[in-house]
Amino acid sequence: MTHFKYSKSVKYTDLETIYAQCSGPGGLKLTEFMAEKMGVSRGERILDVGCNRGIQSCFLAKEYGVQVVGIDPWDDRMDGRPMVEHARENASKWGVPEMVLAQKIGLPESHYASESFDRVYSTTALEMVRNLSGEDGYLQCLKEIRRVLKPGGVFGLGEPMHLDVPIPDDLRPYVTRDEFPWAECFRDVRHSAEEVRSAGFDLLEYGYVPDAKDWWAEYAQHDPFCKDDPQGDPLTLKIDNGRWVSFGYIIARRM
Ligand SMILES: C[S@@+](CC[C@H](N)C(=O)[O-])C[C@H]1O[C@@H](n2cnc3c(N)ncnc32)[C@H](O)[C@@H]1O
Repeated sequence: MTHFKYSKSVKYTDLETIYAQCSGPGGLKLTEFMAEKMGVSRGERILDVGCNRGIQSCFLAKEYGVQVVGIDPWDDRMDGRPMVEHARENASKWGVPEMVLAQKIGLPESHYASESFDRVYSTTALEMVRNLSGEDGYLQCLKEIRRVLKPGGVFGLGEPMHLDVPIPDDLRPYVTRDEFPWAECFRDVRHSAEEVRSAGFDLLEYGYVPDAKDWWAEYAQHDPFCKDDPQGDPLTLKIDNGRWVSFGYIIARRM
């Protein structure tokens, strides 16, 4: 049973394609959930931080009539091309080439002018920065997001997070392995909300996504890397069974 009433993302039913064009739980459902919580409105200018292959930027442009700048610093794990090349191709496929601009940039050095975006959207990206650059690197990214937001602008952060409980002993080996160990990347939502607040935001709302377990199950089933490696994230999620892994969201306004 889904908890959130999706109206826009339900039109896109090809989950194989959706999960091949982004990277993480939720796909376009996540983007709709965040956009509604953030109050995204037609004509706004939005920064998508960690846009990956850009499908969520395209969805925002097409379904909400907004101009999106998607940034992503990495090359694609599948074909080695810059993510932003996929994003540009997706923008054409989605019929929004004039509304989505993709640039190969990573926070905290965005180089955009201060106060240039109405809203900033970021999902399943900054927890990786936390792992690579520590809490200080994470905080620098939040401060850069604040800098490029217009005063009063809204930041929507969606992230894999853990529930406010210790890691179950039998789960620990699974969340301490791999290149981006979940135990290092994930925090509980109160911790992350406090980091956002300390970067100069007013917290409007935060919590765990009610559909988090369904989103993770979809991800395990449809993400191409999960399909190739059932002993990886799909096994972790099976062992966890909703005890520790979740997905959190934070909606905040630039003070
Ligand atoms: C797991 S994907 C998430 C993609 C998509 N937003 C989603 O929700 O499925 C994370 C993306 O963050 C990008 N990323 C990594 N470091 C970043 C940084 N410093 N600034 C912006 N994006 C970054 C990666 O290149 C990657 O494409």
